[in-house]
Amino acid sequence: MDRATFFAIMGAFPTGVAVVTTMDDRNQPRGLTTNALCSVSAEPPLLLVCVDKNSNTLPGLRHSRKFVVNYLSAGRGDLANVFASKEPDKFQGVSWRPASNGMPWLHTDTIAHAECLINQEIEAGDHLVFVGEVVDGHPPAPGTRPLMYFRRTYGTWDD
Ligand SMILES: Cc1cc2nc3c(=O)[nH]c(=O)nc-3n(C[C@H](O)[C@H](O)[C@H](O)COP(=O)(O)O)c2cc1C
Repeated sequence: MDRATFFAIMGAFPTGVAVVTTMDDRNQPRGLTTNALCSVSAEPPLLLVCVDKNSNTLPGLRHSRKFVVNYLSAGRGDLANVFASKEPDKFQGVSWRPASNGMPWLHTDTIAHAECLINQEIEAGDHLVFVGEVVDGHPPAPGTRPLMYFRRTYGTWDD
């Protein structure tokens, strides 16, 4: 299978968009946009996120062993693009505060967040699968809308 066809097939699956955030060894916030994210287990509560081995956020994840999954609100495509870039300081102009696990919570741009402790790191091709135990977080309030991604385009949920 060629790379373009693989991406086109995977792009047929609509997803939400989340920014995975952590702190690096200099106590600086780091993060990347993700959609390779899913629920794994209810007891204990586990989720997984897949991170490229070339990610600049990776050393921070391995250092802190913690992360926050920030589920972006509708209309935050520009913010998703910032966190999908290689900008050295993606947090400039972004509102955040430490979640209870100390990792950055993008509290004004999200409908929900999950605070995780890294439970497992699994090598899978050119990515690493991080399994996180969800120890805290906030579900979405009624009526809030998520940022979504389908065929390389941002959108939202329209009921
Ligand atoms: C909608 C969207 C979803 C993405 N999903 C992932 C993902 O699940 N895992 C990943 O490693 N990169 C994903 N990326 C790409 C990263 O955000 C991108 O490589 C980013 O530059 C990584 O930043 P970093 O090197 O500072 O960690 C996604 C990008 C977009 C736009």
